[in-house]
Amino acid sequence: MATHQSLGGASDEQLLQRMVTTHPERYGKDYWAAFDAGVAPHLPASPVVVDLGCGPGLFLRDLGQRYPAARLYGYDVTPAMIAYGQRLACPGAGPTLALHDVTNDRLPHAAGAVDLVSMTSVLHVLDEPLPVLAEIRRVLAPRGIFLLHDWTRQALQSYLAWRRDGLGETGPELVTRAFRLFPVHNKYTSEDWQWLLAEAGFAICYQAALRQSHLMFVATAAAAG
Ligand SMILES: C[S@@+](CC[C@H](N)C(=O)[O-])C[C@H]1O[C@@H](n2cnc3c(N)ncnc32)[C@H](O)[C@@H]1O
Repeated sequence: MATHQSLGGASDEQLLQRMVTTHPERYGKDYWAAFDAGVAPHLPASPVVVDLGCGPGLFLRDLGQRYPAARLYGYDVTPAMIAYGQRLACPGAGPTLALHDVTNDRLPHAAGAVDLVSMTSVLHVLDEPLPVLAEIRRVLAPRGIFLLHDWTRQALQSYLAWRRDGLGETGPELVTRAFRLFPVHNKYTSEDWQWLLAEAGFAICYQAALRQSHLMFVATAAAAG
C-alpha cells in the first residue's frame, strides 16, 4: 500500500505513532506563521476545510481551535489513522473523519463547496497526482485555497546528514532506511511542484520553505484563458 511505501515498510500502527510523535515538527511555529501569512487572509470566518490524507486528525483539531465556526472534514485511506482521529478530544463538534482513497474516489463534496483543501506529506506518495489535483479543483470555491505542504528534493549527502543530525538517526538499520526513503522523499524538486500545480490549473500565490525538507505552496484556481 502507498502508505507503507512512504515510510519504508512501516506497519499502519507504526506510521500512526510516527505521525503523532512528529506532529509538532510538521505543524510548529513556522507552519502557523506561514499559514497566517499565506492562507488566513483568504479564509472566511466559517470556512469549509478538507484535509486530504489527514492522518491522525491533529491538524484539523488544531485548526478547529483557531476557527471554532469552521466545518472540518478529514479523509485518509488508513483505518488506524481515522480511528485515532475519531477518538481525539476536539473543541465543538470536531472534524468529520472518514476512510477514503483519494486515488479512487470522488470527494463527497459538491463542486465549489470547499474554502480550503490542505494536503501535508501525501501527494508525493501518489503514483498519479494530476487526477487528484483535478478533483481538488472541482470542490474548491471560486476563491478557494489549496494548501500543499510536502517533501522537496535535496541532495543525497544533505538528506542523509539531515536525518543523522536533524532527526538524530544513527546506526546501520537507520542508514539502510534512509537510503530506502531517499527516492520517496526526494521525488519532486521545487520546480517540479510548481510545474505540477500549473499543469493542474492552479496559480501559486504564496510559497515558503518551512524546513530544509519541506515546501509550502498556497494556490488558487488559475484564471481561465
Ligand atoms: C505522511 S502521512 C501524513 C499525515 C498527515 N497529513 C499529517 O501531516 O499528519 C501520509 C498520510 O497519507 C495517507 N494516504 C496515503 N495514500 C492515500 C490515499 N490514496 N488516499 C488517502 N490517504 C492516503 C496515509 O494513510 C497517511 O495517513
